[in-house]
Amino acid sequence: MSGKLEIIDIHAGIEDKKILNGVNLVIRKGELHVLMGPNASGKSTLAHVIMGNPRYKIYKGDICIDGESILDLAPNERAAKGLFLAFQYPLDIDGVNYFKFLWNVYSKLYRLRNPGKEPDIMEFKKKFDDILEKLKFDSAVSSRYLNVGFSGGERKRAEVLQLLVLDPQYIILDEPDTGLDIDSLKIVADAINTIRSPDRAILLITHYQRVLNYIVPDRVHIMIDGKIEVSGDYTLAQEIEKKGYEWILEKVR
Ligand SMILES: Nc1ncnc2c1ncn2[C@@H]1O[C@H](COP(=O)(O)OP(=O)(O)O)[C@@H](O)[C@H]1O
Ligand SMILES: [Mg+2]
Repeated sequence: MSGKLEIIDIHAGIEDKKILNGVNLVIRKGELHVLMGPNASGKSTLAHVIMGNPRYKIYKGDICIDGESILDLAPNERAAKGLFLAFQYPLDIDGVNYFKFLWNVYSKLYRLRNPGKEPDIMEFKKKFDDILEKLKFDSAVSSRYLNVGFSGGERKRAEVLQLLVLDPQYIILDEPDTGLDIDSLKIVADAINTIRSPDRAILLITHYQRVLNYIVPDRVHIMIDGKIEVSGDYTLAQEIEKKGYEWILEKVR
């Protein structure tokens, strides 16, 4: 079945500050879109609004999955619909063992997706181990505490691990490339290429073009002052790399 994530004329903000000024975006399963833009243009805000972060207020517009509005759904209900957000700055959660943490999240999602059924921990363990192997992740990671003492590259891979375990269909990655050295960048880019599939729609938010040396997106969108001002194919990102955002700002202001 094909499906899509639709952002329809979204106006939103936080604490009486309006940040998004009419964002329109449609991402179909099978597609990977990139959202770029200067700092503070509203990219992370859009990610939070899609996930239903209660701190953000929506003034106008709609967000739909497979044609149905999700605006009235809580974040965990949105996750049950297949939405997933990897955060720009993952938290250290001291004292939570990684395997237990993921089992916990997985169980909750499983019950939401399969009412009346219970998840199987042995099945989950197998899935977890398979993914560790695929990501070339040391299996000792499962007994370590969540993100504590993880290097930058390990944290990003931990996010990808989480993503693969939960198997979402609508994925938002907020600057997974920030602060990575070249080797970690390649691992993360590889992992993103691995999760691309006809069953998944991906929105990759990035400030820099360099991750796009390894990932060829279907569409590129440039956000300026809370609005997508220019969209194009992957060559648009190359143009930004060469000319920066100034030429778009001049056109808009
Ligand atoms: N919690 C918050 N409280 C007040 N203003 C915020 C908050 N989060 C973000 N903003 C403001 O919203 C604007 C957009 O921020 P953000 O969505 O993080 O941009 P980007 O991800 O493109 O850098 C910025 O001006 C930022 O200062
Ligand atoms: Mg941001």
